[in-house]
Amino acid sequence: MALPLPDELLKLPHTRDVPFARLTTLGVGGRCHWLFEPTTQEEARLFVRTCHREGLDFRVLGGGSNLVVLGDVEVPVLRLRLNAPVERHGAELTAPASHGHIALAEAAAKAGLSGLEWASGIPGSLGGAIRMNAGAYGHEWVQVLARYRYLNPEGELIEKAPEPGEFQYRGSWFSHAHVVLSATARLAPGDPARIRAQVAEYRQKRGASQPLSRRNAGCIFKNPPGQSAGRLIDEAGMKGLRIGDAEVSPEHGNFLVNHGHARADDFAELMAQVQARVREFHGVELEPEVEIWRA
Ligand code: FAD
Ligand code: EPU
Repeated sequence: MALPLPDELLKLPHTRDVPFARLTTLGVGGRCHWLFEPTTQEEARLFVRTCHREGLDFRVLGGGSNLVVLGDVEVPVLRLRLNAPVERHGAELTAPASHGHIALAEAAAKAGLSGLEWASGIPGSLGGAIRMNAGAYGHEWVQVLARYRYLNPEGELIEKAPEPGEFQYRGSWFSHAHVVLSATARLAPGDPARIRAQVAEYRQKRGASQPLSRRNAGCIFKNPPGQSAGRLIDEAGMKGLRIGDAEVSPEHGNFLVNHGHARADDFAELMAQVQARVREFHGVELEPEVEIWRA
């Protein structure tokens, strides 16, 4: 049953009862009862301020590429659809949080700006990448992040430069009620041919090691310090373990893939079995890297 919501929220662009299978790359979960999709920062601000005033909890969704949703979500979900363009000032690029992450890396490469080559294979939105401090091949967002703009849980708009301690490996200081609105990357002018070659090399490496032809949510567990979760899972003999249509990828142990009709519970069970086996085999506790939304 959907929660009743105040009229002020209902005036904002929204959709009802959208299956999370359509909102996430893994393709499981129940229904998103309320999906709010503001197209301006002002609308996003009105959303957060109204939720704050009414004491309403909410969640923020980007491209859904790092999410395992375990059931229906009744509270309003905010997915930005900001219509602002990408702006360039010298070697800095500013983009709205709803901008596609891969598209932004491609725009940087096209503009002859170096610094986001590593990002060219990471799906989702810019906002999700900032929230997760996404990274690959020895790089992560905080290294190029010049400034970011966000709404705090009270709906106040703040713009600032990152400070030490705010971003860590696959994480940041934001609570679930902070909304990243835009970010500015400080890049460097580079030789377009070299940038393109670097992008192609990263893509080739990714394609050779990750199961990109199946639905997945990227790496499921964080790498424990100095170790690779994928290798630990592989050595524990878990590759190919299947529950229904959910499987530990035979290509990369830290990817769980959906063969088409997997259920959220299958992934929850598979994650628990992988953790138990790695604990038993290696004495290591694997911590989820994906965000888990429980009903
Ligand atoms: P979502 O999955 O929608 O959300 C993730 C979290 O961010 C949630 O907590 C959500 O509430 C929050 N969030 C989303 N948007 C906002 C916003 N505007 N403001 C505040 N919070 C927000 N990740 C890596 O780091 N490196 C990789 O190499 C990598 N490879 C991947 C490969 C594949 C094939 C896939 C499917 C995923 C991979 N990922 C990788 C994981 C994922 O793509 C990243 O974590 C991505 O940055 C998540 O962005 P998103 O927009 O999809 O976020
Ligand atoms: N390995 C195995 N078996 C496997 C998987 C990996 O032996 O099944 C070995 C590889 O041979 C390699 C080592 O483990 O020697 C590391 O593997 P890989 O290069 O694939 O990197 P990873 O540590 O598994 C991390 C990130 C990825 C990111 C890549 C490239 C985490 C949890 N994962 O993977 O990020 O794309 O490096 O930089 O930090 C993500 O966060 O979703 C993600 C995919």
